[in-house]
Amino acid sequence: MGNKVLSTLKKEHVVAKSIVTVLFRIVEDLRTGKSVSLLYLKELIEAISRVMEMHHRKEMEVFAYLTPHEEIAKEDLLDVLTEEHNLGYEYFANAVRIIDHADKANNEKHELIPFHVDEYAKLLKEHIRKEENGFFPMIKKFITEEEQDKILKAFGKIEQELQSRKEMAVIESAIQKFR
Ligand SMILES: [Fe+2]
Ligand SMILES: [Fe+2]
Repeated sequence: MGNKVLSTLKKEHVVAKSIVTVLFRIVEDLRTGKSVSLLYLKELIEAISRVMEMHHRKEMEVFAYLTPHEEIAKEDLLDVLTEEHNLGYEYFANAVRIIDHADKANNEKHELIPFHVDEYAKLLKEHIRKEENGFFPMIKKFITEEEQDKILKAFGKIEQELQSRKEMAVIESAIQKFR
């Protein structure tokens, strides 16, 4: 039997990598003076925030099964990843705040917008790399089939709780638009 926990997270990383590409394109557009609708950007960032929150919640569920293993606890990778999840939320909040501010001031070219979007995209890119090199191999090595079943049930609950079909549609259309 394949590892369904791993394949679920891997699939979500494919979307996350496309999000990184979209965000870098938007930064470029903003910096080269192309007009980007602030309303659209806010909607997109909020959609990304929701979809990434769901992904993070699933990862944290897996972390809970990994931390009791001594060799994992010795490395601090899971702590670093958890911190990066939280840092991501801060970046989202900052970006949304600045967009709101720029919108009120009618300043579509506010230089802090590309700065914050770029910071988040760089964080996400590096975070994905760390997970695929460090965290994903741990899942393969340590998570038993029985644990997988439990984790998949938890994934289902998280998906139900954080409905994000609308947000996924926003992201998918952005991927089409900016590819
Ligand atoms: Fe993560
Ligand atoms: Fe991830």
